[in-house]
Amino acid sequence: MALRNSNRIRHLLARDEPVDDIEIRGWVRTRRDAKGVSFLELNDGSCRTSLQVVLSHDLPDFDVLAHQAGTGAAVSVRGSLAESPAAAQRWELQARALRIIGPSTPAYPLQKKRHSDEFLRTIAHLRPRTNKYGAMLRLRSRLSWAIHDFFQQRGFHCIHTPIVTGSDCEGAGAMFRVTTLDPAQLPRAGGGIDWSQDFFGREAKLTVSGQLSAETCCMALGDVYTFGPTFRAENSNTSRHMAEFWMIEPEMAFADLDDDMDLAEAMVKHLVAFAMEDCAEDLELFAKFVDPGLMARLDNILAHAFERLSYTEAVDILQRAGERFEFPVDWGCDLQSEHERYLTEKHFGKPVILRDYPRALKAFYMRGNDDGRTVAAMDLLVPGVGELIGGSQREERYDVLTERIEAFGFRLEDYWWYLDTRRYGGCPHAGFGLGFERFLMFLTGAGNIRDVIPFPRTPRHLEF
Ligand code: 4AD
Ligand code: MG
Repeated sequence: MALRNSNRIRHLLARDEPVDDIEIRGWVRTRRDAKGVSFLELNDGSCRTSLQVVLSHDLPDFDVLAHQAGTGAAVSVRGSLAESPAAAQRWELQARALRIIGPSTPAYPLQKKRHSDEFLRTIAHLRPRTNKYGAMLRLRSRLSWAIHDFFQQRGFHCIHTPIVTGSDCEGAGAMFRVTTLDPAQLPRAGGGIDWSQDFFGREAKLTVSGQLSAETCCMALGDVYTFGPTFRAENSNTSRHMAEFWMIEPEMAFADLDDDMDLAEAMVKHLVAFAMEDCAEDLELFAKFVDPGLMARLDNILAHAFERLSYTEAVDILQRAGERFEFPVDWGCDLQSEHERYLTEKHFGKPVILRDYPRALKAFYMRGNDDGRTVAAMDLLVPGVGELIGGSQREERYDVLTERIEAFGFRLEDYWWYLDTRRYGGCPHAGFGLGFERFLMFLTGAGNIRDVIPFPRTPRHLEF
């Protein structure tokens, strides 16, 4: 049996020799009719470039077939791969037979060469058939693989952490509830809803982060990571937030904040270098049509060490910046996107890692610093996007951790298993979360997070 991919366009275009007899299947991107011949741009998803198919009007049944082989149709073409006389491409397929597998009609919405991102979001089920979204989805696929490869090569173990959870990791964003109870007939007890009658016998939510589960495995396997979907019910309609996104979360035992920052920087650089080498054709599309400064920006990422400074130093820089920020900057305030972007885009002109944030701004599990008012947190900020990574050294001291959990208003009994990791063989450890979609925005220059995932989940959008 022939290997399925031996007749993929990507492989054919890379050939040095012509092929006498080959069959290609794909979708018609465009059709152009000239005197005696028609040209189809055929794309099979294997790469960005389409294959030019030359159809002589002498082909059997040409009139009937050509009618059905309009933009969007799925077709099979048999013929020979020959040197193309046109300057634009080396190879073309000179057809001997054309077969319609799935006809299209003139109502097919992707008739034009270019469509706005806004329009394409309304047809998310068809937009993978455009050059841009095809390129984006291939990048997503290759980068997913590269992320696993990065960690596996370094001895990290992949952990599948649960999606449905009984605990709240961040304590910041709202969570989605998971229930099988009938909303019209909720069981009541003590003035509230009786969750003991629900599927799990208690309240259940969709996870906002796999971190707490990853930490437990880290205490046995040393270095681990998770790469899975996470959910946040914040009603924030920004170009950088979604209700469902994918997060990569490594966790390292016997590691501190410096190790954490080193890993974050190495990972980002590895992925950028990988994409530039492995996905050059797809990246080029974004450099050409989305962000003309893209390649220079990516080169710049690889060329320099990321800037590392404390939150306190950053506040100082922002206060002296002489910029008119919408939100004023004082020590203790949460940095807004405008501040983060000033630091990474204007002041330093490269990625910046801020560390040691005020305790009040960060999650309960971050390790308290000796100054009593900051925690060993770090955020990686990058040009164009702002926050790409959030991480920390974890609070490994049992007493401090219990005090923090209570200070956050959580019940200790809900975290008994998490606390056990500190009770039995606890050790300094650290990790971070990288938002996969934010990374893809950073990598491609895409300005809206809705355009880097096949089916974005945002407030009031659940169509596809
Ligand atoms: O900073 P966050 O909230 O950190 C955590 O969840 C930690 N538990 C991670 C860890 O230490 N293991 O989120 C991490 C990253 C952010 O820096 C951002 O890139 C992305 O996840 N992110 C989002 N991406 C898209 N939509 C949202 N609503 C996001 N919220 C966070
Ligand atoms: Mg964060």
